[in-house]
Amino acid sequence: MVSLTLACSAVAQPIIRNTANGLEATENGVHLQITALQDDKLRIREWRVSAPEDASWAVLPGSRTSLVDVTEDQSGFHTDKLAIEVKDGLHLVIRDKQGHILQEDSGPVQWRGDAFHVYKTRGENEHFFGLGDKPGPLDRSGQTFTLWNTDSFGWQESTDPIYKSIPFFIDVKDGRSFGVFFDNTWRTSFDFGHENDQEYNFGSQGGPIDYYFLYGPDPKDVIKGYAWLTGTASLPPLWSFGFQQSRYTYTPESQLMDVAAHLRRDKIPADALWLDIDFQKNNMPFTVDEQRFPKFPEMVNKLADDHFHLVVIADTHIAEKPNTDYLPYDTGMAGDHFVKNPDGTTYVGTVWPGPSVFPDYTQARTRQWFGTLYKDFVADGVAGFWNDMNEPAVFRYPSKTMPLETQHHIDEPGFLKRTASQREIHNIYGLLNSKATYDGVLKLRPNERPYVMTRATYAGGQRYAVTWTGDNSSTWNHLRMTIPQLTNLGLSGFSFAGADVGGFAGSPPADLLTKWLEVAAFQPIDRDHSAKGTRMHEPWVDGPEQEALRKRYIEERYRLLPYLYTVAEETSRNGMPMMRPLFVEFPHATADGNPMDLLTGGAEYMLGPSLLIAPNPSPEEVAEYELHLPPGIWYDYWTGKPAGSADTLKARDAEVRDALLQQQRIMLKPDLATVPVFVRGGAILPLQPLVQSTDETPQGPLTLRVYVPRAGEVCQGDVYTDDGHSLNYRSGQFYRLHISCTTKQDDTLSIEFKAPEGIYQPWFKQIRVEVTGQAHVPSHATINGRTTTIQSNHGVVSVTIPLPNAESRLTMQ
Ligand code: GLC
Repeated sequence: MVSLTLACSAVAQPIIRNTANGLEATENGVHLQITALQDDKLRIREWRVSAPEDASWAVLPGSRTSLVDVTEDQSGFHTDKLAIEVKDGLHLVIRDKQGHILQEDSGPVQWRGDAFHVYKTRGENEHFFGLGDKPGPLDRSGQTFTLWNTDSFGWQESTDPIYKSIPFFIDVKDGRSFGVFFDNTWRTSFDFGHENDQEYNFGSQGGPIDYYFLYGPDPKDVIKGYAWLTGTASLPPLWSFGFQQSRYTYTPESQLMDVAAHLRRDKIPADALWLDIDFQKNNMPFTVDEQRFPKFPEMVNKLADDHFHLVVIADTHIAEKPNTDYLPYDTGMAGDHFVKNPDGTTYVGTVWPGPSVFPDYTQARTRQWFGTLYKDFVADGVAGFWNDMNEPAVFRYPSKTMPLETQHHIDEPGFLKRTASQREIHNIYGLLNSKATYDGVLKLRPNERPYVMTRATYAGGQRYAVTWTGDNSSTWNHLRMTIPQLTNLGLSGFSFAGADVGGFAGSPPADLLTKWLEVAAFQPIDRDHSAKGTRMHEPWVDGPEQEALRKRYIEERYRLLPYLYTVAEETSRNGMPMMRPLFVEFPHATADGNPMDLLTGGAEYMLGPSLLIAPNPSPEEVAEYELHLPPGIWYDYWTGKPAGSADTLKARDAEVRDALLQQQRIMLKPDLATVPVFVRGGAILPLQPLVQSTDETPQGPLTLRVYVPRAGEVCQGDVYTDDGHSLNYRSGQFYRLHISCTTKQDDTLSIEFKAPEGIYQPWFKQIRVEVTGQAHVPSHATINGRTTTIQSNHGVVSVTIPLPNAESRLTMQ
């Protein structure tokens, strides 16, 4: 399978060599290699002189070495899904099977020393999403970004870079999507049509040109493709989906215990408390200030008895404290585990505890050693660990990090054993820190899910840690920004993410804290955290009226836990984020193929497949705002009432109705007590009775709310549960129930339960099916043909049935 195109004129032509899985092309000393990993996934590498080392910190080995056979074409090849053409100038064009150009070079790679940029053409309707935690609008079009992990206290909307480097974006053009993962750990940059609106580019100051093209055509295909490539987030423990209360810092012990007692006394459901750096002796990681926390293990036990999980901070640096019996330093020095200066001495930089040294996580043996440092905390029963300052953050330099010449000594399976400077390692330092923690804690507590939160990370870091958006501010604008930031993080692999509720820097006015607590109840991680010296942030601080509103939303989160956990499990299986921009669920909502989120600037989002959350896009304003409902029938989550206009819903002609539904707009009047939430017609939503923590077994049946769709439309839902803490679910110890429903013209509703999967016994023994949206109040119900009782309470019609253990059918007419 070798074909040669010979150079024969002044215009250089590439010499192309087709291979079983792609092609290699050479022109003017530049080499291009394209490999088909799967029919819809390509890896593209380009180099001068000699091929760079073929290794990755992010991509799963099995995916990187995956290959699929391709068919040779005249100047390229095709797979079952894509056609690849290499024109003169190593000009690359990727098309779908219908011949649509998906991606095309707009010019050759530009090199400047080791730095380079790759240029692609950009269409008028081309939109870009992802790129991790970058603040600013949901759509990255027209903007430039730098990826360089940076400690960014008090970051604002235009601050760039901030903490994470996730060089992955999703391109949506004319209703077709694909993803690009640029696997380069150096300082990279992305320009999505800022400099020239006809093109976009990405580049780096060094390292390889090594990127992956992940075809859709739907955004969900791209998301799953990226998960296939870099791995999925591991499923966090159930308790981490409860409400979490933090502060820099609850100290001494009595203050922490008061917060715990207050939460329980006021019956504000909560699952976790966090301890920040002032619980440590002089802010030294892996120590406890015994003056202020004299009986730490007993305290952890007491909290556990009261159903609180304790998470403690464990920053990446180790205090430079020789001869003081500070074991992390002594053992780290003895094992030669720290980052070096170019002259071979240990690098010392200042962080919270003063002069500090930094583990060199590029050595597998160093990560192993670091993992052992959690031993005492794990023995004490500490439930989770918080890896902070791991950009790495170093004080007193304008760059806020260590000098670029500091050295790492890579010693890692799959990599050449070599010295690498901070220039190359900086952006993966946080990823490797959290990997060390995850692996270490798992080893110390085998078969239990480690809970690690990291601030800095790189692509693939979702396998080891959840994350948060760092030091945001207590302003209305920061509340608004949580949405595009968290949805973009979700598209970048980090589904399990949150923003400091109430804002970290500054003191939120009462209404802001209330609204923030309300909105965050519908975000993946609900952790209230605040900076030293700011006003306290706990739900009760602004008096009983505000507290009641806040509590109501936290309670609703707990009722929704079966749904949240089911959605979270999906993330861990295929990468689908919990928070989704609308275009992920409704990629074809608009006639022109533009993401429908652009109508509201990304203020609305889906929480899982069924709930649409629609907070005010200008949260501090009192004026009405417009909501754009995606196509289909919608119901108000709070009242069960249809959300579309009656005319729209009654239109007989399906096409007319669809057209009307597609433009469905609602005006919403903001009020402090409400976050508008809508449920998709055809959703089956699992809810549970209220509990005060996830330790508590809910009393009563699981509720399944069936939201009736139009006749003939999809209606389905899932319930997933397991023991919530161990890894046994990976070997079948889970429970999954798939439910679907159909409606007939005569208004009969038929609900089908598939035989449950898995061998875990769920907490619920009965299911209460509530129906919303059936045109007539049903008077007769049967379960597997036998008549069963219908209840009606305040207009809510329900039937309670025993847990089906085989395929079952419930009908209501
Ligand atoms: C950093 C973290 C913040 C934490 C503080 C003290 O600023 O981002 O969350 O409270 O350090 O540890």
